Amino acid sequence: MITAPSVLSLDYSRMKEQVDELNASGAQWIHFDVMDGHFVPSLTFGPEILKGFCGMSDLVKDVHIMVTDPMHFAEVFAKAGAEYITFHYEACKDIDEIRRIAETIRSLGCKPGISIKPKTDTEVLRPLLKDFDLYLIMSVEPGFGGQKFIPEAEDKIRALRKMLDEAGSDALIEVDGGINAETGRICAEAGADVLVAGSYVFKNDIRKAVESLCTLR
Ligand code: DX5
Ligand code: ZN
Repeated sequence: MITAPSVLSLDYSRMKEQVDELNASGAQWIHFDVMDGHFVPSLTFGPEILKGFCGMSDLVKDVHIMVTDPMHFAEVFAKAGAEYITFHYEACKDIDEIRRIAETIRSLGCKPGISIKPKTDTEVLRPLLKDFDLYLIMSVEPGFGGQKFIPEAEDKIRALRKMLDEAGSDALIEVDGGINAETGRICAEAGADVLVAGSYVFKNDIRKAVESLCTLR
């Protein structure tokens, strides 16, 4: 299981210490929640912060952009060192726009991902099964860390796993929101490949929390 701790929940008064702990844990990725204060009410990181992390960690930079203008921010964060860039289905007007953004992300040397919010049907992804390296199922409403896992996410993961298998795709399924050892196990059994966890990792012993997720499946 790939574990992607979300630095939204990092204690920024102890940043260096916590990033060092992450580097020494079994986490393979770091997850950056970019919020623009418009697509979601909160406002978080700009590209300079991502560049700072790139200098402190070799973990894979997994950037989740919760923004109204994904094309613009995809370019900004690709240039700042992102490896995966995941944007929201709900921020786009049609399939053509979604494909254009995915192609732009690839042309900038990054891997594109697409995310759906809890109320968006997994079926909307069916026409897009060849376009992405990663599909992100939100298991909370995007915008804040520390929320409770929405149990309906389990069926969405199963449905998406089946769709990707039938399409012969080896793209990854990521789950984000309310993940701990218990909800992580539910996601792992349903077919998830990547677990994002913010508060569970940073409000506990970082190394132990990461290990409890990495060792699932
Ligand atoms: C929510 C973010 C999540 C968040 C997860 O909008 O996308 O990545 O940081 O936080 P926890 O693990 O605390 O639910
Ligand atoms: Zn996220």
